[in-house]
Amino acid sequence: MNKFELKDTAVSWVYEAATFIKDKMKQSIEVDTKSNKDDLVTDVDEGVEALFLEKLKETYPEHRLMGEEGSFESIKDLDGIVWILDPIDGTINFVHMESFFAISIGIFKDGKPLIGIVYDVMKDDLFVSVKGEGATLNGDQLLPHADRKLDEAIVSFNTGWLLKDRRLEEVVKHVRGTRSYGVAALEMAYVAAGKLDAYISYHLAPWDVAGGAALLDEVGGKMTNVKGEKLTFLEKDSLFAANPSIYDAIVDVSGITKD
Ligand code: IPD
Ligand code: CA
Ligand code: CA
Ligand code: CA
Repeated sequence: MNKFELKDTAVSWVYEAATFIKDKMKQSIEVDTKSNKDDLVTDVDEGVEALFLEKLKETYPEHRLMGEEGSFESIKDLDGIVWILDPIDGTINFVHMESFFAISIGIFKDGKPLIGIVYDVMKDDLFVSVKGEGATLNGDQLLPHADRKLDEAIVSFNTGWLLKDRRLEEVVKHVRGTRSYGVAALEMAYVAAGKLDAYISYHLAPWDVAGGAALLDEVGGKMTNVKGEKLTFLEKDSLFAANPSIYDAIVDVSGITKD
């Protein structure tokens, strides 16, 4: 199968899903909770996942879908082609702010990223990568990561993680600024694009990171869990994704990844 055709098909479905989301936003959205009161899901999240399930069944019946809203349950390995989908990343932003949320897809082949797509629906920002071909933002090629200085870096993490790992205080002290956007896929895409220099989280699922990981791979970004280990894309894990020079500088000043 041709990777460019696959990418074009996936992008066209993402645009279709975005139209569905925007139409639903003009009507009414049903909000529910999952594991706790802050773990939101809406009928729109489920609708987007259903759209991809249906499209895949019709067009690529041999591909499998690992989506957040239920279709992950049957996926125990990443053999062959697996679409790792977050139908809406940043559901809290979607519900409260009606902006700053993304559709994220990592299409993996035998466990490795082949195609990455992260689409900021309201801003109409489309990040796309194809293995070996680099990554783009709205069609413009993203540059490979060049060295940066820590005191000129912007690092993103949810502020609550400071309560869990005090080593983050050292990061706060040494960087130019910190941000919390609440949309992991987009934060990883921003790291890929050099708009942010690092993104750190202590709990993410494969669908939060798969699209962004594909983008980062294509620009030479560095990505591990906070212990410095490789991600499996099958289990929930922490994440430390960064421009490589900033990754190393953060390790030096904070000790994150050590012990
Ligand atoms: C969440 C967002 C958020 C991250 C959470 C994720 P969801 O995904 O990516 O930024 O901090 O851990 O669960 O539930 O909105 O798709
Ligand atoms: Ca969720
Ligand atoms: Ca998510
Ligand atoms: Ca989600």
